[in-house]
Amino acid sequence: MDWLSGFANRTARDAALAPRTWYRLGGPAAYLVRPTDPTDLAELVRRAADTRVEVRILGAGANVLVRDAGVDGIVILLDAPAFRTVRVDGTCVEAGAGVDLMPLVRACCARGLSGLECMAGIPGTVGGAVRMNAGGPAGTFGDVVDTIDVLSRTGVRETWPAERIRFGYRTSAVGDCIVLSARLRLCQAHPETVRDRYDAAFAQKRRTQPLADKSAGCVFKNPPGASAGALIDHAGLKGVAYGGASVSTRHANFIVADRGATASDVLNLMDLIRDRVRRVHGTELETELDIW
Ligand code: EPU
Repeated sequence: MDWLSGFANRTARDAALAPRTWYRLGGPAAYLVRPTDPTDLAELVRRAADTRVEVRILGAGANVLVRDAGVDGIVILLDAPAFRTVRVDGTCVEAGAGVDLMPLVRACCARGLSGLECMAGIPGTVGGAVRMNAGGPAGTFGDVVDTIDVLSRTGVRETWPAERIRFGYRTSAVGDCIVLSARLRLCQAHPETVRDRYDAAFAQKRRTQPLADKSAGCVFKNPPGASAGALIDHAGLKGVAYGGASVSTRHANFIVADRGATASDVLNLMDLIRDRVRRVHGTELETELDIW
């Protein structure tokens, strides 16, 4: 039995991924599947494992660059209502993996639920934010995660406490598992105080980052004790272009895609940046973007 039987009505073949990413670049997915709920998803991942078909999860596409050739295998979207529920119980918020981060952060702040202000203006989904521990220097998503529910690649559902998730700088121990939901432990505070902190974080982001351009946020991780943006900037790379991709003149750790850009342009510019930074500063930059 091939994995597709029983999933055909929620599977698209050769489905464009570019419109589903912030970069708007790259080729199609061989299969794009939208499971209806965790049980359906478990069945899908079990079948994919049995038939050795590769599986990827696409969140908001905010930190992903899809290669021009596209991706083989299955890309899963967790956008069915069962993956997008939010339950608030006092200061505990439970959110499905497919919940959009920005409206969630705004809603929590508006209620005076503190802990997510540092996430102001960071696009993504709850699942993606857990997996890569999204955030900035003021704090990360993992700081407020109490437990998560995950599905293993063999289709087994487990609840993990925060210690097991081992949140680090843009990393977690989620690995091959699929995040289903996260329970967040926030603090009650005065809504005005929380909103002021949220506004300040967002304003800082707007001031320093090219939010209106097509990008996927920071391209490289900050090396220990240094800023990738500053290293790239001081290597004289702001504004340098490769095809339709260029180093942002506002923040050098952003590569922005202009009209006509391809994913290869971005990848070639990344190589150029890595080479120049290695030569000028002797530092090896590590990629932060997820490249498919
Ligand atoms: N800087 C420059 N030139 C630049 C960019 C930055 O000299 O072109 C300097 C700044 O002046 C500052 C230092 O580098 O002294 C650090 O810059 P910034 O405060 O902008 O922070 P960052 O370390 O570059 C990090 C996260 C961002 C997050 C901001 C929030 C990483 C790789 N980046 O950026 O996350 O939004 O802090 O302030 O951890 C992302 O994860 O996609 C992302 C954009």
